[in-house]
Amino acid sequence: MGRLEDKVAVITGAGRGIGREIALLMAREGAKVVVNDLGGNTDGTGTGKIADDVVAEIRAAGGEAVSNTNSIAEVSGGEALIKTALDAFGGMDILVNNAGILRDVTIFKMEESDWDAVLNVHLKGHYCCSRPFARYIRENNRTGCRIINFSSVSGLYGNFGQANYGAAKAGIAGFSRVLALELAKYGCTVNTISPGALTRMTIPLRENRGEKVEQSELDQGGPQHVAPICAWLASAEAAGITSEIFHTGRGSVAIMQQPKVIKQFHKKSGVWSLDELDGVVPQLMEAKKANVDAAEKAGATIEI
Ligand SMILES: NC(=O)c1ccc[n+]([C@@H]2O[C@H](COP(=O)([O-])OP(=O)(O)OC[C@H]3O[C@@H](n4cnc5c(N)ncnc54)[C@H](O)[C@@H]3O)[C@@H](O)[C@H]2O)c1
Repeated sequence: MGRLEDKVAVITGAGRGIGREIALLMAREGAKVVVNDLGGNTDGTGTGKIADDVVAEIRAAGGEAVSNTNSIAEVSGGEALIKTALDAFGGMDILVNNAGILRDVTIFKMEESDWDAVLNVHLKGHYCCSRPFARYIRENNRTGCRIINFSSVSGLYGNFGQANYGAAKAGIAGFSRVLALELAKYGCTVNTISPGALTRMTIPLRENRGEKVEQSELDQGGPQHVAPICAWLASAEAAGITSEIFHTGRGSVAIMQQPKVIKQFHKKSGVWSLDELDGVVPQLMEAKKANVDAAEKAGATIEI
């Protein structure tokens, strides 16, 4: 018996890459799956029918799946997607907000259209699908649901040339923390994945540097390595885990720090003078460095 038997899972952007692997794995674990994908290009232009191929693959392996080609960047698309799950399978338990695009360019050249397209698919896309699902959970008192969101080190650490994408991905981490609070009452967990995988989104970055991606690398670093923690977070075993960020890929699974005050000074009366700040800011920076060093030491890889 699979870990997701009788569950209904909706996975956005599941026509290829990480989403496809999540759809295939969740179906193998017994979930009924809605494969959503607009089927466009990496920059968000165009459309295609790739979701149907993944549905066919799942069915050929004995699983249950239906496709949906709505754009999750629109409120109506998110609503139609959740409706697809309810119409096809009579309920919904798991939402994986995975769909994504890229429009990499530095701030000097970033057009409004580059900003809007990326923010719409990533950050607004999370809202467009999560709101109808949250309403469904509340209206039907559906317990044990799961939302799994997709962030990135681009936003959590920062990455050159990705102000739009990084802003969206950092926003998704904040969005997830709030949703985790709002849905806790219904037993719905909300967690975030920061993945690393060789897909059509990342392979060109390597190729642009003149590096060829070999099959052995795809075996070690392909999107299939991101799917397991996502499926695990959707399972009953993950009931007590919410508002966390897991970093995963290339055989690694890791938990990330959340923003927290590391050290603080409090002035009992009056406003800080700039001269006083000359004294305390270096101490804050020192505390920050010690904290980062300790986190890096604690986060050293354990081979198993
Ligand atoms: N690959 C990585 O290393 C990496 C790193 C960090 C974050 N991520 C994130 O992981 C997620 C999956 O990335 P991937 O590498 O598999 O990319 P991918 O390009 O292979 O897959 C993304 C899918 O989303 C679909 N999509 C795009 N816009 C859509 C829309 N409006 N509606 C419906 N579907 C839409 C695309 O058609 C595509 O099939 C993305 O959110 C991405 O930002 C990936």
